[in-house]
Amino acid sequence: MDTILVTGGAGFIGCNFVRMALRQTVSRVVVFDKLTYAGSLLNLKDVEHHPRYEFVRGDIADRRLVAEVLQGFRPTSIVHFAAETHVDRSIEGPRNFLDANVIGTFELLEAALAYYRGLGEKGRDFRFVHVSTDEVYGSLGPQGYFREDSHYAPNSPYAASKAAADHFVRAYFRTFNLPTLITNCSNNYGYYQFPEKLVPLMLLNAAAGRNLPIYGDGLNVRDWLFVEDHCAAVLAVLRYGKIGEKYNIGGGNELNNLQMLEALCSALDERLPAKENPALKARGLTSYLQLRVFVPDRPGHDRRYATDTSRIRNELGWRPACRFEDGIRRTVRWYLDNTAWCETVLAGRSGARPPFIPDNHQS
Ligand code: NAD
Ligand code: DAU
Repeated sequence: MDTILVTGGAGFIGCNFVRMALRQTVSRVVVFDKLTYAGSLLNLKDVEHHPRYEFVRGDIADRRLVAEVLQGFRPTSIVHFAAETHVDRSIEGPRNFLDANVIGTFELLEAALAYYRGLGEKGRDFRFVHVSTDEVYGSLGPQGYFREDSHYAPNSPYAASKAAADHFVRAYFRTFNLPTLITNCSNNYGYYQFPEKLVPLMLLNAAAGRNLPIYGDGLNVRDWLFVEDHCAAVLAVLRYGKIGEKYNIGGGNELNNLQMLEALCSALDERLPAKENPALKARGLTSYLQLRVFVPDRPGHDRRYATDTSRIRNELGWRPACRFEDGIRRTVRWYLDNTAWCETVLAGRSGARPPFIPDNHQS
């Protein structure tokens, strides 16, 4: 039986990928995850008894442990999601990002290379898929799109750490012939996203009648993609991608943050009408958008991301399946139906409020 080793499989995108891989392949799926604040076994609760699922807790920077896991489970591929991922946290404390994303990826590559070499002929189908971000390309003006050959210009410590990891992955292919592939995806939204990123943060704050902090003028543009569409793209790259290649992934769905907030508030209003929400009534408000406050901008805030996805569309036949309106409705429903999950993952942790802005901030 084939085995896919999924690093970071207890995080937001990783857990959605694990679920999809168990559904759509016959492979065994082994999750390797450190369970940082962003990872939780609750994200994998529904698959914990699946006969083809295994979990190992560990740090990708621990080369010895990774080597043991590779020898023990003999994976036929590695899909590498594990990372520190929140831009705001990378501004507050870049060091963790260097440790996890750069050193961690390097140690994982070293362990993977040693393992791959040991496979000999049996390793002819082995693949290492590195999951990265469109943020490595920097910021766009009003025109243009990131292409796979766009130059790298990372602006946040997070983006810099992912860019460094991408370069190492590329180098391990070019120098050592490790069969790697890289994906660079745009902003994801969907189930199990830790409530510190824009979408879940705004949803939970709005439902609880808390302020909705918009950085700067709110006109920064992101290209939003439903998480399951990202997972399907990674699966397509894993199966059919060309070794040594990189693939951009995106939703073709550009929205500025004010537009995104309007979409979220409107979907929330459908499920939980603001006029009937006691948390809003207590503040004398009748609409979720009245909770919006403009707060100081994120330092180095990228203005616009937009992705040219022709390569993955033309070469692998992938395209997003979920319409934005449906994805947002499904996401809102999921968060409202899973308040216990939200409370548990947030317990004792900073989330549902940006780290540098007080909850009572008034613009
Ligand atoms: P996440 O923060 O929700 O989850 C990250 C997971 O990695 C967690 O389970 C965490 O415990 C684990 N992890 C962190 N450091 C680790 C380490 N040293 N060893 C082992 N496990 C470790 O992240 P996400 O949003 O699911 O992103 C997953 C990947 O996709 C990341 O590489 C990210 O850069 C990339 N990506 C994310 C987005 C997005 O919109 N969220 C878009 C494009 C690319
Ligand atoms: O583009 C892909 C990237 O998307 C991933 O690589 C990152 O891991 C992921 O976190 C995401 O990065 P962003 O910085 O774009 O996502 P975030 O949800 O933090 O912010 C989205 C936009 O919303 C951004 O312009 C900043 C703004 N924002 C965010 C928060 C948390 C606000 O205005 N207010 C907020 O409270």
